[in-house]
Amino acid sequence: MYIVSLSHNILNIFEMNFIEKTKAKAAEKICRIVLPEGTEERTIKAADIILGEGFAKIVLIGNPDEIKNLSEKFNLKNISNAEIVDPENNPNQEKYVQLMLELRGAKGLTREEAERLIKKPLYLGALMIKAGDADGEVAGADNFTGDVLRPAFQYVKTLPGINVVSGAFIMTVQDKSFGENGMMVFADCAVHPNPTAEELAQIAVCTGRTTRAIAGFEPKIAMLSFSTKGSAKHEMVDKVVEATRLAKEMDPSLMIDGELQSDAAIIPSIAAKKAPESQIAGHANVLVFPTLETGNIAYKLVQRLGNAQATGPVLQGMAAPINDLSRGCSIDDIVNMVAITACQAGEK
Ligand code: ACO
Repeated sequence: MYIVSLSHNILNIFEMNFIEKTKAKAAEKICRIVLPEGTEERTIKAADIILGEGFAKIVLIGNPDEIKNLSEKFNLKNISNAEIVDPENNPNQEKYVQLMLELRGAKGLTREEAERLIKKPLYLGALMIKAGDADGEVAGADNFTGDVLRPAFQYVKTLPGINVVSGAFIMTVQDKSFGENGMMVFADCAVHPNPTAEELAQIAVCTGRTTRAIAGFEPKIAMLSFSTKGSAKHEMVDKVVEATRLAKEMDPSLMIDGELQSDAAIIPSIAAKKAPESQIAGHANVLVFPTLETGNIAYKLVQRLGNAQATGPVLQGMAAPINDLSRGCSIDDIVNMVAITACQAGEK
């Protein structure tokens, strides 16, 4: 999770409320969140805080002696309440190996390879979720994004009707006239480089659902382009027009419009000129970008130039929530991401 520290107190309070609300929501339905990097310092300290606050159950993957030693070294009071799973000596190993072979034997996975992989914490975490032994996972403090996502893609897979995982950021901007009292959701900013129209439609629908579940407001989704309602002709524009049509078809309960330029999406006076018929233009609180390139660049510019807070990426579209951390994350980032993941798991 990437969060910039801010000098703007009101914004900090707003963000704090968002995280506090998320924790409260998670606490309504206590879910089991697996932390595969159980011997990583920030992770074990975060686990201790989460167990103390009590909004999720924690499964730590790692050597039990090492976890015990770290817990004593850092004077952690709550780790004894965590479930600890030793990847080298796991009583469920055979069950998970069988599951791996069922899921990927046809793709060439051998028993020998499955027995090797299941000792790796990131694979073990994904298999625990697939087997129903955990509800969600947070990892990445010590691993690359691709290494966190690959086992998740291969074993946890996607939700019915969705075949692309994407990453949303909850943006809190200083000017509260934008979005929902300054809160907006941007996607895909993290995962899928070059979506087709069908995939972009799925990203829009998943982002609408993430907005309801995590940000807690009704989404008004703008499908962004460099064209507004036919002002430019290009195959890249056609993709966004088609994605808008498909997304509306996929989930008629969502308010979606496109193609819109970003100014037409969020500025009422420009929307009045460029897209006067649109219910969304000028009032969008969810921005869906046509490619990962545009989404990733945009969220970082808004974060840095606009001094906005960016919470995420919240991964969406997976059959169970698995979220990736930045390797530069803080202990609080991990605690907050577990709260979001537990909330996603509870929604499911
Ligand atoms: N959704 C669902 N499944 C996927 C996705 C996706 N977006 N992408 C790949 N898969 C599946 C594939 O279908 C494949 O499944 P299979 O083995 O059953 O056939 C499996 O995952 C592996 O696919 P590969 O094409 O080999 O994918 P790879 O592992 O090389 O890459 C990855 C996946 C790591 C997510 C890649 O798309 C990537 O690097 N994306 C960019 C991530 C990134 O760098 N983001 C920016 C930084 S994050 C930030 O700034 C916040």
